[in-house]
Amino acid sequence: MTHRNIKLGLCGFGVVGQGVLDHLYRKRSALREQLGAEIEVVRVALRDRSKPRDIAVDDAIVTDDPISVAVDPEIDIVCELMGGTDRAREVTLEALKKGKIVVSANKALLCDHGKELLGVAQKFGGHLLFEASVAGGIPVIKAIREGLVVNDFSSIRGILNGTCNYILTQMTNEGASYSDILVQAKELGYAEADESLDVDGIDAAHKAVVLAYLAYGKWVPFDAVKLLGIKEVRQEDIRFAKDNGYAVKLIAEVDRERASNALRVSVMPTLMPKVSPLGSVDGVFNAISIHGDVVGETVYIGPGAGRDATASAVISDVVDAAKLLIFGGSEGRFPILNPNPKNGGEIETARPCEIRSRYYMRLVVMDQPGVMAEIASILASHEVSLASVSQKEVGENAERVTMIITTHVTSEEAVSLASSDLSELATLEEKPFMMPIGDLS
Ligand code: NDP
Ligand code: HSE
Repeated sequence: MTHRNIKLGLCGFGVVGQGVLDHLYRKRSALREQLGAEIEVVRVALRDRSKPRDIAVDDAIVTDDPISVAVDPEIDIVCELMGGTDRAREVTLEALKKGKIVVSANKALLCDHGKELLGVAQKFGGHLLFEASVAGGIPVIKAIREGLVVNDFSSIRGILNGTCNYILTQMTNEGASYSDILVQAKELGYAEADESLDVDGIDAAHKAVVLAYLAYGKWVPFDAVKLLGIKEVRQEDIRFAKDNGYAVKLIAEVDRERASNALRVSVMPTLMPKVSPLGSVDGVFNAISIHGDVVGETVYIGPGAGRDATASAVISDVVDAAKLLIFGGSEGRFPILNPNPKNGGEIETARPCEIRSRYYMRLVVMDQPGVMAEIASILASHEVSLASVSQKEVGENAERVTMIITTHVTSEEAVSLASSDLSELATLEEKPFMMPIGDLS
């Protein structure tokens, strides 16, 4: 076996970067034995040298210029763990243009610039590996591109944001508001530097776009993703879910309509049956259910965010990169540049009328005669059929009341149109809140 030193540059030394350095050193001898080579971190880029760090690093290898790490001829593997899309894109491009292997945990970067970056990697003989970009510690990218390679996919559905799942779980178990729990999620290292990426569903959408690319070979434009985060989820919704055997989950979905070959990517708070594989996954855990035509359904569950889970995924790519450097053979070993061709081709984005589900609606209305009749009439005009209506009894002098409605199966287009007509009602006190109801399949 060839013995050599593999030189690694870390760009970013925050939650994930420190986790990677820590575990690379803790597992140094096991990795050396497995690879017959030493993985050595030779440069670390960060922004603020004065910031206290949990993991010590030799000041001599620290820089505040990540580009110098990307182009350093001594470095074989560059880990981009900075976040953001501008500087991170520059760093990744510079490293790929030098034919290096880049390992990234940055789903925003992949969603916005994945096509360009993979093209540059191919052109200059570099590689871009991104296992940690989706679902933290769960090796779902390897599952899709290797373990499930023979399958045609009909759908991928998952809880892809650990922060949101943690917040929704704590709202359910502790009855606290999302903003209080968000502070904890930040302290635990789950949330993005800009936490609106988490709670507005943007991070889950970035990850869903990456999964859609791997499964179908198409970069769905971010603007085409139907997106709603968790900021509007209230205790009333959580209580309804608990009382009726559901859990509120932020569900990302990638679906291909067989008849039209249209691809739909969405991220929405969803009522999932508590006994379903996704409905039962709590805390910072993520879960992904993948339907393949050969294997059927497979489900992957594990920690979706945090220092150690993410370091585990980054290091799996670092080891793949090291094997590539040691044993060679870029052809075939990393089929990531060519997602499953059976699933590719001309795929359009699905239109709302093609998307069907049951729906949950929360309406805050004035407590006065005729309100229910107005609502029922608007829903009927869009052929939305009611499955249940509930309203808690309020005192004689109450001015407003919360009404919760569930519908039979209808189209996304019909509920959207009904929602905008409902918003026009003078008796409606707030914008309607709606979420799909997931089924057990
Ligand atoms: P942090 O904010 O904790 O760390 C970012 C690091 O990058 C910091 O060390 C920061 O320096 C450094 N940095 C940022 N910009 C620059 C720059 N222009 N030049 C030099 N250094 C820079 O983020 P995380 O570690 O949490 O996340 C890193 C990446 O991993 C992101 O893409 C994130 O989406 C992804 N990720 C995170 C997960 C998690 O659970 N946290 C899970 C999966 C993926 P300084 O410390 O001096 O400010
Ligand atoms: N902020 C992200 C999350 C990190 O909470 O899922 C993992 O990608």
